[in-house]
Amino acid sequence: MLPGVPFSCLFFFLPLVWLLPGSLAGDPYVFFDWTVSYVSASPLGVKQQVIGVNGKFPGPVLNLTTNWNVVVNVKNDLDEPLLITWNGVQHRKNSWQDGVSGTNCPIPAGWNWTYQFQVKDQIGSFFYFPSLSFQRAAGGYGGIIINNREVIPLPFGLPDGDVHIFIGDWYSKSHKELRKDVENGADLGVPDGILINGFGPYRYDQALIPDGITYQIINVEPGKTYRFRVHNVGISTSLNFRIQNHNLLLVETEGSYTAQQNYSNMDIHVGQSYSFLVTMDQNASTDYYIVASPRFVNSSDWAKVTGVAVLHYSNSQGPASGPLPDPPNDYDKYFSMNQARSIRWNVSAGAARPNPQGSFKYGQITVTDVYVIQNRPPELIDGKLRTTLNGISYLPPTTPLMLAQQFKIPGVYKFDFPNKLMSRPPKLDTSLINGTFKGFMEIIFQNNDTTVQSYHLDGYAFFVVGMDFGVWTENSRGTYNKWDGVARCTTQVFPGAWTAILVSLDNAGIWNLRAQNLDSWYLGQEVYLGVVNPEIDATEVPLPDNAIYCGLLSALQKNQAQRIDFSGAESIPDVSKTIFFLLIFSLIGTLVR
Ligand SMILES: *[C@@H]1O[C@H](CO)[C@@H](O)[C@H](O)[C@H]1NC(C)=O
Ligand SMILES: *[C@@H]1O[C@H](CO)[C@@H](O)[C@H](O)[C@H]1NC(C)=O
Ligand SMILES: *[C@@H]1O[C@H](CO)[C@@H](O)[C@H](O)[C@H]1NC(C)=O
Ligand SMILES: *[C@@H]1O[C@H](CO)[C@@H](O)[C@H](O)[C@H]1NC(C)=O
Ligand SMILES: *[C@@H]1O[C@H](CO)[C@@H](O)[C@H](O)[C@H]1NC(C)=O
Ligand SMILES: *[C@@H]1O[C@H](CO)[C@@H](O)[C@H](O)[C@H]1NC(C)=O
Ligand SMILES: *[C@@H]1O[C@H](CO)[C@@H](O)[C@H](O)[C@H]1NC(C)=O
Ligand SMILES: *[C@@H]1O[C@H](CO)[C@@H](O)[C@H](O)[C@H]1NC(C)=O
Repeated sequence: MLPGVPFSCLFFFLPLVWLLPGSLAGDPYVFFDWTVSYVSASPLGVKQQVIGVNGKFPGPVLNLTTNWNVVVNVKNDLDEPLLITWNGVQHRKNSWQDGVSGTNCPIPAGWNWTYQFQVKDQIGSFFYFPSLSFQRAAGGYGGIIINNREVIPLPFGLPDGDVHIFIGDWYSKSHKELRKDVENGADLGVPDGILINGFGPYRYDQALIPDGITYQIINVEPGKTYRFRVHNVGISTSLNFRIQNHNLLLVETEGSYTAQQNYSNMDIHVGQSYSFLVTMDQNASTDYYIVASPRFVNSSDWAKVTGVAVLHYSNSQGPASGPLPDPPNDYDKYFSMNQARSIRWNVSAGAARPNPQGSFKYGQITVTDVYVIQNRPPELIDGKLRTTLNGISYLPPTTPLMLAQQFKIPGVYKFDFPNKLMSRPPKLDTSLINGTFKGFMEIIFQNNDTTVQSYHLDGYAFFVVGMDFGVWTENSRGTYNKWDGVARCTTQVFPGAWTAILVSLDNAGIWNLRAQNLDSWYLGQEVYLGVVNPEIDATEVPLPDNAIYCGLLSALQKNQAQRIDFSGAESIPDVSKTIFFLLIFSLIGTLVR
């Protein structure tokens, strides 16, 4: 059986779509049983506790196709509450499944909770990760692929293989120690390494890299073309990704096909995902380096912090050696911005639907709401170090926003997030952006910090229409790309610079807008965007049956005393799968008769 693709799904998808055209042939379901637990690993030669999914670090890849229904039963075997968020999955009209503190009560240690969502009208490369308590710093992440439906052609030849690459800064300290440091205002300092797929660096330099570190080897065949899906899953370091002697043909980012262009390297900021086609067109006189090196850092201490993996052709003549391929010049501040601006949407490619991506002409739509959102470096508020957006540091309520809305509990949050920085002292608050349903919002992120920040919006893809150094003004709109700005879910904002995005508010719900940099996020750099459909929408997904209650609603929660043990996806028969299977057989039986 294919890992992660239960047979019930294949059965349903393959024969029944043919047998039952029309109403009975719903979108297929796929089921996953996950146990999230600590596992030990020594990525940098020091044994430490990391977070694994079904014992794996990084976790398993969710390999899906547009419109599939995904059911993931997550058992929390950590010693603290857990939520998994699906970075970039839009959960159409269903922020109940978003897995962030504003939408769901956390899954208590020892409990399980089943996520169920549809990957509606989406394609692309994304990743999931634990969203609470700095846990991503310990792992718990893995890839999400949403394949095109067969009726929709890829805008490039089918690659010969798919390679997932997770890059990220890494510390030997635990996520608990790291979050304590962040709370206390200690600088996290230089990471202990940059991991690639959970492994430390290849020993490209005997003086810098100690012996005995296990590194990632990517095995390839000469002449073939692979799709590399690269994600920055780290804490706060922007990374430059490159493969020695090989071009990176950019084809997709976070759910949009891009105009296809070759790059020799790409800056990938925290929380971003890219797909590149890489052709094995070299003579394999040696193996080749795959490198992820820190960007915009200015200290010799960082020299030894580089992620290095190995690209190994089956006919390779020997190990990689010599210096790593050069990074771009760190002091040319326009290099990275120009590279970001060069990433364009392929407006003639179809993605989730057959019509071209550019048939939605975002440049012609009237903007209904404008928010200029400024971040600042950490500052003291009520004696605690906090970060802010427009002077407000997000205060998570004990009752998640979605539950408070559903049960009409007053006073949990207010729709009063200011549309620009106000001249008043910074404060802690649960203040939401009031989004106009079916409106078209312009958001300008103005980064007043000294480091690159990336911002992510759940539930949506937004158009990145402009970025520049300096302070945004109304005149800056003259520079916007109104035609082929790429639609994605995470954008970088350079220090002392702004980035402008446009987003069509067609997805009702309460959606998290956050800094992806874990330290900024942890200290309060997030806000929720409420998009309320004023007409009662019958298709609105109601409160899930299995909702966990907490905060002001904790009295509604039954104890999960009888927890069912599933220690691995296939080991224990799953009742729902069996029922499903029986149903399908009886359906087939009926039809055959
Ligand atoms: C994902 O699943 C499809 C079948 O649905 C398969 O063709 C493909 O090889 C799988 N990809 C990965 C990376 O597992
Ligand atoms: C916990 O897992 C069991 C066994 O798979 C399942 O029946 C139950 O619905 C799950 N609980 C929740 C709250 O999702
Ligand atoms: C855009 O997509 C089309 C259609 O799939 C493809 O033929 C074309 O090569 C792509 N254009 C670029 C610039 O990548
Ligand atoms: C990208 O580079 C490859 C060689 O690695 C070349 O064959 C291809 O034509 C280039 N594609 C574009 C769009 O520049
Ligand atoms: C292979 O390519 C490298 C660099 O591109 C070159 O230095 C070397 O001579 C080539 N080796 C062979 C056997 O062609
Ligand atoms: C890096 O350090 C050098 C020397 O201390 C300094 O001149 C330069 O401005 C710094 N660059 C950045 C980007 O901070
Ligand atoms: C939110 O905005 C809508 C208009 O888009 C308005 O009708 C509604 O009263 C606002 N809600 C609050 C709580 O301000
Ligand atoms: C932050 O804002 C202050 C006050 O407006 C300004 O003086 C400073 O240059 C800004 N810093 C950055 C990095 O944008």
